[in-house]
Amino acid sequence: MGAQEGRGLAVVTGGSSGIGLELAKLFSADGYDLLIAARSERIEAVADGMRAAGSSVQACRADLSTPEGVQALQAAILAAGRPLEAIAINAGIGLGGPFTENRWEDERDLMRINVVETVHLAKCVVPGMVARGSGRVLFTASISGTTPVPFEAVYGASKAFVLSFAQALRNELRDTGVTVTALLPGQTETDFFHRAGMDDTRIGAGPKSDPAEVARAGYEAMMAGREKVVAGSAATRFEAAVLNRVLPDAAKAERHRTMSEPGGAT
Ligand SMILES: NC(=O)c1ccc[n+]([C@@H]2O[C@H](COP(=O)([O-])OP(=O)(O)OC[C@H]3O[C@@H](n4cnc5c(N)ncnc54)[C@H](OP(=O)(O)O)[C@@H]3O)[C@@H](O)[C@H]2O)c1
Repeated sequence: MGAQEGRGLAVVTGGSSGIGLELAKLFSADGYDLLIAARSERIEAVADGMRAAGSSVQACRADLSTPEGVQALQAAILAAGRPLEAIAINAGIGLGGPFTENRWEDERDLMRINVVETVHLAKCVVPGMVARGSGRVLFTASISGTTPVPFEAVYGASKAFVLSFAQALRNELRDTGVTVTALLPGQTETDFFHRAGMDDTRIGAGPKSDPAEVARAGYEAMMAGREKVVAGSAATRFEAAVLNRVLPDAAKAERHRTMSEPGGAT
């Protein structure tokens, strides 16, 4: 148990690394019983380490790009036997490269985890929160959801979906006691770009924000019940607050292309 005994259950998907791992640390420091989920065995090691440091943490190994994985996580949530007070639906992947060359299977898997099973998981947990009249939901979207993203076309579209979905759901739930918050990180120092095959892009090779700071911005926004938060450098926040609001879509696409085009880093 953490510092403040008696809190309910919090869930973080993608809790084995990056932003999700930092979100898990924040929940744990606030005394939540924590259930963290990811596909790889890293999630067990993270839970072991956090328990050794005194936290109440369980791991759920599940492929959250599949309905079976989401059902396994839902079963673990029910088995915890505690009211689900908060969930960070954060697990996601990127994919760089030209649409004409990328494999459909990789794009399909991205849409499954970032879109289809993200909605499925929300479908599994949100009605229970509404029935209880309380809950906090954090979706990790992206600043990429506010602009066309050439050479990450399917990824950018998936995050535009998450952002739109989160904002609409927030409005639907406005009188229920359940809040929905979208976290929009800019480029953040995690495994994300390497896994997306983007090491040779300007954005992949360039400076990035600390995932602990990004997670804290999201966590605080969720706890305050805010609609959304852009997290990252001053340049990221300027892009979200100004450029992506005033530039024509074609200009935003050109601007992003310079950062995400393969080979741009060399
Ligand atoms: N890094 C950035 O610049 C950035 C910017 C904007 C938004 N984001 C978003 O932030 C979120 C977290 O990404 P990150 O940057 O922290 O990257 P990361 O370090 O690669 O973390 C991704 C997490 O998702 C998990 N995951 C991936 N595929 C999974 C699957 N099929 N089933 C279950 N879990 C899976 C990974 O777990 P295992 O691999 O251990 O299974 C890992 O815990 C993503 O939604 C991403 O789109 C990132």
